Amino acid sequence: MEEIISNSPNETIDLGKKIGATLKCGDILILSGDLGAGKTKFTEGILSYFGLQNEISSPTFTIVNEYYTNSLNIYHFDVYRIEDQEEFFYLGGDEYFKKGVSIIEWGEKIEKIIPKKYIKIDFSKSLDNENVRIIKIKKIGY
Ligand SMILES: Nc1ncnc2c1ncn2[C@@H]1O[C@H](COP(=O)(O)OP(=O)(O)OP(=O)(O)O)[C@@H](O)[C@H]1O
Ligand SMILES: [Mg+2]
Repeated sequence: MEEIISNSPNETIDLGKKIGATLKCGDILILSGDLGAGKTKFTEGILSYFGLQNEISSPTFTIVNEYYTNSLNIYHFDVYRIEDQEEFFYLGGDEYFKKGVSIIEWGEKIEKIIPKKYIKIDFSKSLDNENVRIIKIKKIGY
């Protein structure tokens, strides 16, 4: 497990860029943490590594936003509104996994039904500073 302290939104974006550089087709990232903890900011950094600057929009109402880059497809999910794990299957969510990189906000809600190998990134807010985030990265099943 790796723990990173981010002191600003830009530092979280930079971490996203750094992780973005390591990603391969089939990778699944589960992003967990409270509302406003930084999951979308981090995703913005990943997209920016792939040349998709300023393209981030929250997929809350669409469940998934799809991005096609020269090297990889990126699927950005937000499953906050999913009622139960089966709904993700019903929506065809699992069909994306092999075709690119999947980034899943609130992914802990479907952790039991996704492939056994994934990267879990947990975001939490510091209690003493509103611009500080504690980010924990854990590789599961690797
Ligand atoms: N160190 C930091 N890292 C990331 N975001 C930060 C940081 N400090 C302050 N912020 C602010 O916190 C907010 C994070 O919002 P973001 O949309 O990324 O959260 P989220 O985890 O995706 O929330 P949600 O669950 O609602 O989707 C932004 O307004 C950002 O400017
Ligand atoms: Mg978000």
